[in-house]
Amino acid sequence: MPFEPQACLFDLDGVIVDTAQYHFAGWQRLAEELGVPYTQEDNEQLKGVSRVDSLEYILEKGGLFLDNDTKVRLMDRKNAWYLELVASMTPDELSPGVVEFIDELRAKGIKVGLGSSSRNAPLILERCGIADRFDVIVDGNSITFSKPDPEVFLKGAEAFGVAPAQCVVFEDAQSGVEAALNGGFRIVGVGDAVTLERAEFVIRGFEGFNLRGLVERLT
Ligand code: BG6
Ligand code: MG
Repeated sequence: MPFEPQACLFDLDGVIVDTAQYHFAGWQRLAEELGVPYTQEDNEQLKGVSRVDSLEYILEKGGLFLDNDTKVRLMDRKNAWYLELVASMTPDELSPGVVEFIDELRAKGIKVGLGSSSRNAPLILERCGIADRFDVIVDGNSITFSKPDPEVFLKGAEAFGVAPAQCVVFEDAQSGVEAALNGGFRIVGVGDAVTLERAEFVIRGFEGFNLRGLVERLT
């Protein structure tokens, strides 16, 4: 029996749109200001992780203990830089092929949702002109626990009324792959096969990818 997905949940940053680079730039700038070295390896660890947990990771790495007001100020600072970077974003920055793939899913009756840790997700979807393609949006504003906790995806599946085992998650982050596995979802990595080795399979991007390919690989 072929696998029949009933819903797909997409991460945002680094999957639908190439905003992962802007988060990286913001966190790196903040870490450097704090005198904490920030490497590509750190960046891989922080993909998919919430704003507050990302800051805590950097502070812990630097052995820094700060009061809450200072932490809020630092997060606001990083976010202001991020917003500057995305201010001029256009639909051109959507991952090639992703809109076509989403439209194919929708045409074939498969529900489409967003499962992102970002509190800026609604803004980015609007800016890219794709907000209306999502039946369900779960983002950093509506969750308590950051990936690798499965909350963001479980809320999406619940809103669809679909069991996690019938729902496919698309993720570029190790934390997101773990979140999907922790929630009992089917999981496709988007990006580097070595980094995302815990995914069921990994695609470089959505160009040339379709529902048939998805079903073949997950059956
Ligand atoms: C995730 C990104 O989607 O959202 C992280 O992968 C980012 O890099 C996190 O830090 C939180 O984003 P925001 O927009 O709420 O600061
Ligand atoms: Mg991501």
